[in-house]
Amino acid sequence: PAEDEARVEEIKRLLEANNAVLVAHYYTDDAIQQLAEETGGCVADSLEMARFGARHEADTLVVAGVRFMGETAKILSPEKRVLMPTLEATCSLDVGCPADEFSAFCDAHPDRTVVVYANTSAAVKARADWVVTSSIAVDVIEHLQARGEKILWAPDKHLGGYIQRKTGADMLLWDGACIVHEEFKAKGVEDLKGLYPDAAVLVHPESPSSVVELADVAGSTSQLIKAAKELPQQELIVATDRGIFFKMQQAVPEKTLFEAPTAGDGATCKSCAHCPWMAMNALDNLAGALRHGSGEIFVDEALRQRALKPLERMLNFNA
Ligand code: 13P
Ligand code: SF4
Repeated sequence: PAEDEARVEEIKRLLEANNAVLVAHYYTDDAIQQLAEETGGCVADSLEMARFGARHEADTLVVAGVRFMGETAKILSPEKRVLMPTLEATCSLDVGCPADEFSAFCDAHPDRTVVVYANTSAAVKARADWVVTSSIAVDVIEHLQARGEKILWAPDKHLGGYIQRKTGADMLLWDGACIVHEEFKAKGVEDLKGLYPDAAVLVHPESPSSVVELADVAGSTSQLIKAAKELPQQELIVATDRGIFFKMQQAVPEKTLFEAPTAGDGATCKSCAHCPWMAMNALDNLAGALRHGSGEIFVDEALRQRALKPLERMLNFNA
């Protein structure tokens, strides 16, 4: 629509005027992903978003995604202004892991190395030895296991369980879940596979173990897009937020992509997976953030220093 075009042009002007760059996650709206790409920003998974923001020369980072992504950007680049289209965009993993309860859990298990998923608050990160994203989690846990370390993992029990099964590491798991991926049902994927027996199944490991078991490839959003390109299959069943289809279809225009159903009873996607918090990012509030400097992320300096250490460990880790 003409309104969107005008908004896009306004955002482009504002990005330039503010020496700002747009960093977007694959689960945000197509229009936001396209804008990030057209303006020299990035569309990426959580780890690549963090790396891109930390290295970029812009004065302002506009992070389209959810709160923890903006906070991570600010922790890594305190000298930059970090804006988000809305500060309301949280994550069920972050909400389900309050810092005080988590800290008590850590205190009760002092013999364990604390590894937290990036989908957490700055305060939870500050209590951790390591931060990981889904693209690097297995490698980091393998490394710690090889050193004989026992792990305390939070907050995603599904991702934690997946890593545990894959590595055999001794992991104590926090009881958290992603409300979006938790809805995928093995039955629905099996039914779809019955209709398209040659299809490959791609699954984000925040999904339940029964769904991950059906996967040809399990991995982060970037890893799933890479797999879509590399796999020989022409039909792909994809169990992650539907936002990923924009870039994935561009990457494999000749392939047919199917959204894994969350309703569990067949081939049609009755209620496709889409994160309600990612969906809060829109052209309007993105323009508003740049226009008014609203949605700015602030992290207390002492807390930032503590959260920085486990984040830097992740960024410096080479598998
Ligand atoms: P990745 O993009 O790092 O796979 O993470 C998915 C996610 O939880 C974002 O909400
Ligand atoms: Fe959190 Fe799940 Fe939404 Fe990602 S998709 S932000 S893990 S609730």
